[in-house]
Amino acid sequence: MRLPIAALALPVAVQAANYSGPLRPQVHFSPPSDFMNDPNGLFYDAKRDLYHLYYQWNPYELIAGNQHWGHATSRDLYHWTNHPPAISPSNADEYIFSGSAVLDRNNTSGFFPDQDDGVVAIYTLDTAEAQTQNIAYSTDGGYTFTKYTHNPVIDINSTEFRDPQVTWHAESEQWLMTVAYSADKVIGFYTSPDLRDWTHASNFSRADLRGEQFECPNLVKFAADKHVLFISVNPGAPLGGSGTYYLVGNFNGTHFHPETANFTLYEFSKDNYASQWYTDLPDRSSPISIGWASNWDYAEEVPTGELEDWRSSMSVPRQHSLTQVQGVWTVTRSPYDLSAVQGRRLPNHNHTDGVSVDFSSVQSKAIYFEIDISGLPADPAGEVRFHFSSPAGDHLDGGVVLDTGLFWIDRAGTQLYTAANNTDFTPLSNTSVAVDGGLAFAGVIDRSVLEVFADDGTQSATVSYFPSAPLDRLAVGARGLSDGANVGLAAWGLDSGWVV
Ligand SMILES: *[C@@H]1O[C@H](CO)[C@@H](O)[C@H](O)[C@H]1NC(C)=O
Ligand SMILES: *[C@@H]1O[C@H](CO)[C@@H](O)[C@H](O)[C@H]1NC(C)=O
Ligand SMILES: *[C@@H]1O[C@H](CO)[C@@H](O)[C@H](O)[C@H]1NC(C)=O
Ligand SMILES: *[C@@H]1O[C@H](CO)[C@@H](O)[C@H](O)[C@H]1NC(C)=O
Ligand SMILES: *[C@@H]1O[C@H](CO)[C@@H](O)[C@H](O)[C@H]1NC(C)=O
Ligand SMILES: *[C@@H]1O[C@H](CO)[C@@H](O)[C@H](O)[C@H]1NC(C)=O
Ligand SMILES: *[C@@H]1O[C@H](CO)[C@@H](O)[C@H](O)[C@H]1NC(C)=O
Ligand SMILES: *[C@@H]1O[C@H](CO)[C@@H](O)[C@H](O)[C@H]1NC(C)=O
Ligand SMILES: *[C@@H]1O[C@H](CO)[C@@H](O)[C@H](O)[C@H]1NC(C)=O
Ligand SMILES: *[C@@H]1O[C@H](CO)[C@@H](O)[C@H](O)[C@H]1NC(C)=O
Repeated sequence: MRLPIAALALPVAVQAANYSGPLRPQVHFSPPSDFMNDPNGLFYDAKRDLYHLYYQWNPYELIAGNQHWGHATSRDLYHWTNHPPAISPSNADEYIFSGSAVLDRNNTSGFFPDQDDGVVAIYTLDTAEAQTQNIAYSTDGGYTFTKYTHNPVIDINSTEFRDPQVTWHAESEQWLMTVAYSADKVIGFYTSPDLRDWTHASNFSRADLRGEQFECPNLVKFAADKHVLFISVNPGAPLGGSGTYYLVGNFNGTHFHPETANFTLYEFSKDNYASQWYTDLPDRSSPISIGWASNWDYAEEVPTGELEDWRSSMSVPRQHSLTQVQGVWTVTRSPYDLSAVQGRRLPNHNHTDGVSVDFSSVQSKAIYFEIDISGLPADPAGEVRFHFSSPAGDHLDGGVVLDTGLFWIDRAGTQLYTAANNTDFTPLSNTSVAVDGGLAFAGVIDRSVLEVFADDGTQSATVSYFPSAPLDRLAVGARGLSDGANVGLAAWGLDSGWVV
């Protein structure tokens, strides 16, 4: 939807946003109001010790449209401060689509006469005629941007060409752009000495991958000279709607060479899309991402809109590494250092059939939890279940069947929005985890989003859910376990990242 821009005074009192609604995540980023989708322009400013998060934002409506770059900053990736939109359309018939941002320390662009901390944003300008790659620069650390006079910097006369991710390729001392020819299901690599003049370097094509269009590619450098190519696809991802794949390989300055035959699904659930990775992190930092915790199948109709005037949150920030699982390079992930919001350990309550924690007294209704199953024989039997519940009768369930390793999460019991509202809001997510004498998994639950990390961080799920009252109790129960088996639960309250 396009609204005439002249009719729109920007309504955004971003500082006065209301984060107190019962569905509002407290340790996940969500927009001050209205509709948010992809994260954009993630960069870390070491000089000011500040993480920037831009995002696709429609400041006027609860559905997608009128894309601006919304903006927030944080010192720890959990406490966020909202700012006015950083990049807005100049005309009524254009959108500021997804992209990235980099610090141009060496003034390669020439935009920054007297500084070593200039910021260049690289984004797709979307109009009815074309999608082109454009740049804008900021001399104030990333709060306000000036569009480059000679935009676009890449125009191939296509309406399906978007989501540039730019990083500095130190080995070849040039900028590298990873961008999607969306409808062709091709990833293009371009290089540039100055962020203005771009040369096509190579194409990487995977037409056989399930999903209709490629979006938001990110080529991420890991340790051990490895690169991982993340590609989001929509619609038609394997679990329905939108989803993300990754492929491990290496990049030689012009070409990406995969090291494994297959793309791997980043998650075994539906609600993690368009992840972007921070640029300009300190040298020894592991790669950190933030993803969009929703799915195009239902993002524009979930009940937070009517009830609380906002739609969609981001995932928690995640740190990543590479590990070999049965000889195959695999990406691990876990929540980025939670210490900035981690509160007190919650007391366990023992029951004949398990253990529980009551977190009704945790003001945020957000907790971090770890479940550890140990002492299993080589041929384990039985199952372990976890069950979140609310005083209003909502529940969110999951568990693991120990003989097969089937790990599942079921959101059918949260009552405000279910598969009866939209059949694409599928209740079940599942995967298969290794059970080797035991297993452990951990998660963050935060009012309307659950993230679970299993199998030593090689598997994860992001699950949005909508209870009629906040879930505030976690019970873990076991059935049919052999003698000597033990199920441990540890949970900590999380402090809100918002001033509410
Ligand atoms: C904030 O939102 C909640 C839930 O939507 C509402 O109950 C509350 O009145 C709002 N507070 C203010 C100050 O508007
Ligand atoms: C800046 O210049 C230094 C010295 O030439 C080089 O090592 C570094 O890679 C450059 N970085 C960027 C982002 O331009
Ligand atoms: C940055 O580049 C511009 C254009 O080339 C130049 O005028 C300016 O002197 C440069 N500044 C620095 C500090 O290198
Ligand atoms: C751009 O593409 C359109 C649609 O395919 C075509 O009609 C037009 O001639 C093209 N313009 C140029 C400059 O190539
Ligand atoms: C790269 O892929 C795009 C999209 O399919 C195509 O238009 C372009 O011609 C390709 N470039 C080269 C050099 O093959
Ligand atoms: C990068 O890979 C391409 C394709 O395999 C090859 O043609 C090119 O020579 C390689 N470049 C370098 C610097 O090794
Ligand atoms: C990997 O891809 C090949 C060929 O497309 C396919 O035969 C094989 O089953 C795939 N393996 C996995 C683990 O998905
Ligand atoms: C979901 O369905 C229920 C039952 O029909 C209805 O009351 C509710 O308004 C629907 N919610 C949304 C967000 O569509
Ligand atoms: C609960 O059970 C655990 C392990 O079985 C035990 O260590 C703990 O002391 C028990 N707590 C209470 C309050 O009984
Ligand atoms: C696991 O999920 C897949 C994909 O959604 C589904 O096809 C399969 O039936 C599920 N398996 C079980 C045992 O629930």
